[in-house]
Amino acid sequence: MGCDRNCGLITGAVIGAVLAVFGGILMPVGDMLIQKTIKKEVVLEEGTTAFKNWVKTGTEIYRQFWIFDVQNPQEVMMNSSNIQVKQRGPYTYRVRFLAKENITQDPKDNTVSFLQPNGAIFEPSLSVGTEADNFTVLNLAVAAAAHIYPNPFVQVVLNSLINKSKSSMFQVRTLRELLWGYTDPFLSLVPYPVTTTVGMFYPYNNTADGVYKVFNGKDSISKVAIIDTYKGKRNLSYWESYCDMINGTDAASFPPFVEKSQVLQFFSSDICRSIYAVFESDS
Ligand SMILES: *[C@@H]1O[C@H](CO)[C@@H](O)[C@H](O)[C@H]1NC(C)=O
Ligand SMILES: *[C@@H]1O[C@H](CO)[C@@H](O)[C@H](O)[C@H]1NC(C)=O
Ligand SMILES: *[C@@H]1O[C@H](CO)[C@@H](O)[C@H](O)[C@H]1NC(C)=O
Ligand SMILES: *[C@@H]1O[C@H](CO)[C@@H](O)[C@H](O)[C@H]1NC(C)=O
Ligand SMILES: *[C@@H]1O[C@H](CO)[C@@H](O)[C@H](O)[C@H]1NC(C)=O
Ligand SMILES: *[C@@H]1O[C@H](CO)[C@@H](O)[C@H](O)[C@H]1NC(C)=O
Ligand SMILES: *[C@@H]1O[C@H](CO)[C@@H](O)[C@H](O)[C@H]1NC(C)=O
Repeated sequence: MGCDRNCGLITGAVIGAVLAVFGGILMPVGDMLIQKTIKKEVVLEEGTTAFKNWVKTGTEIYRQFWIFDVQNPQEVMMNSSNIQVKQRGPYTYRVRFLAKENITQDPKDNTVSFLQPNGAIFEPSLSVGTEADNFTVLNLAVAAAAHIYPNPFVQVVLNSLINKSKSSMFQVRTLRELLWGYTDPFLSLVPYPVTTTVGMFYPYNNTADGVYKVFNGKDSISKVAIIDTYKGKRNLSYWESYCDMINGTDAASFPPFVEKSQVLQFFSSDICRSIYAVFESDS
């Protein structure tokens, strides 16, 4: 009879069925192997793939700033007009490029603690201008002093110091000064030992963020990199209620096997609170 058409079809069907069964077995087995490998490699301890990338972040992390530039400072001061502002940015800095320090494993609760040294390098190609761009902004020192010391006599003294230092309600400062610090001429005249440097993120270079204590994922991979404590505490002791909570990771990484339906929670020490991200679209 040899191999007629029917026989060929049957053979084909049998081979197909066998392969389908194997496929049905191997797919989960393959998935299991992959999952097992991932589970092993994402643990934050010496020797894993994740650890190396975690100690010194492998990807580039940027922080962008937009500044509100006051357009009518004279009108506001003279005539109490409403402030008009123009948003300018982005000004982009590369951050978190320094290796973590003081990395200490705690096998008792499967955590690892570390310090994240701060550093920021200006990235001109991702910015609309330079670090020397000028902005008219509220003079924080002058505005705050009147608020902190309502006593009329003290205010007279402060007023004369403000006048003497040629400061006023508004000031013109460069981006670099606003973010990283400048010596305030008014505070420099105050006859008490006060901090005379003002800046949104002053001091930054040569400082470190933390101590962070995060789960290393050894007991449960779904917890890897999630913050257990920040500066030894589970709450910030700064905000009221849920804003005060320290949630999720530091955003540099997340536990594996994330579903689209999951809310990604993370904590940013620069804004001193936790925020979250929800899935929007593939890109
Ligand atoms: C304040 O208002 C007056 C009267 O409307 C106007 O003449 C003057 O130019 C204003 N001053 C400033 C600094 O805009
Ligand atoms: C980090 O480690 C250095 C050297 O071991 C030590 O002097 C320093 O106190 C540690 N810093 C913190 C915050 O633990
Ligand atoms: C901080 O250090 C970086 C180099 O790591 C440097 O480019 C930057 O100018 C420094 N910033 C300040 C405000 O000193
Ligand atoms: C900002 O202002 C300073 C002082 O007036 C000036 O020297 C500098 O050139 C200005 N920067 C830019 C980018 O125009
Ligand atoms: C501030 O000082 C100038 C002289 O530098 C003076 O003309 C002015 O009246 C002073 N203003 C106040 C509020 O003391
Ligand atoms: C942290 O704050 C939340 C919200 O107010 C509260 O439910 C929780 O008990 C606090 N945790 C600690 C450790 O204080
Ligand atoms: C922190 O997480 C809790 C529980 O998921 C949530 O109720 C709270 O709103 C979160 N807080 C912040 C600041 O995201």
